[in-house]
Amino acid sequence: MTLTLDMIGDYISSGATGWVFEHNQEPDKVIKIMKAFPQVGNTILDAFQYHNYLQDRHIVRYNPAHNEYDHTWSVGMLWRPMSAKMQMYMFDELMSAQRSGGSIPTGFVKLYDSVKTFLPLNFTKDIYAEIATQDQDHADAWEDNFLSVRGPGHRHAYIISMEKLNLSKNVSGNLRPRKEVFAEVAGYLWDNLNLVTRDTAVAGNYGYRANKELVIFDPIVAPLPTYEEWRPSLAPNNVYDRLRYNYFS
Ligand SMILES: Nc1ncnc2c1ncn2[C@@H]1O[C@H](COP(=O)(O)OP(=O)(O)O)[C@@H](O)[C@H]1O
Ligand SMILES: [Mg+2]
Repeated sequence: MTLTLDMIGDYISSGATGWVFEHNQEPDKVIKIMKAFPQVGNTILDAFQYHNYLQDRHIVRYNPAHNEYDHTWSVGMLWRPMSAKMQMYMFDELMSAQRSGGSIPTGFVKLYDSVKTFLPLNFTKDIYAEIATQDQDHADAWEDNFLSVRGPGHRHAYIISMEKLNLSKNVSGNLRPRKEVFAEVAGYLWDNLNLVTRDTAVAGNYGYRANKELVIFDPIVAPLPTYEEWRPSLAPNNVYDRLRYNYFS
């Protein structure tokens, strides 16, 4: 069944990239909504343009020169769509590999469907209220990302449905070591998609199937830059800018 907004159920939790909900028709699935770079006019902003946009719009909070600059918030605002874009790229490639008969490591979460869309305003407000019933900080982050500007292009989102896992810390028995699962998943992503994997070790980024298999559902991935891209003449003082441009634009 194609993923639609009316399938989004009760709020579960969120991290630096997405907000995760129950699937209200299929209890063995969850739905993750991620912030995509906004569309302003006819252009979907790249990371540089979005950085400039945030600088223009939040002249205090996003401005390192101002004494009320909020570093954590600022990094989070730019990071969200950057990280979401890479994760969505990975999810879509894995689903496409699966459809053409490829096998994905069992240590990776099962993916069912993905959608890129502009969230309707009323839906976005309802979801804000739903998140706020559980966690006001998470709701505030939702508001900053999707509701601080009411233009439709600012509600550009990636939505994914995936297997629901058990996150309990009390799963015990004959478990496969996390290192082994990581090696399998990270090796697969490197060999097939040239992606470097991190952030799988944090509790809350992996869970367990009913059969106690350990499963990674939230790797942060990025392509490894080529030697050329590290040349000092290309990125005299700021390797970060160079990478950001190459991989997140
Ligand atoms: N597949 C899943 N099964 C069960 N809970 C999940 C699943 N995916 C996410 N969650 C819950 O939602 C939280 C945030 O999801 P996550 O994918 O880690 O988002 P982020 O990329 O923002 O860190 C997780 O810490 C977990 O509590
Ligand atoms: Mg996470």
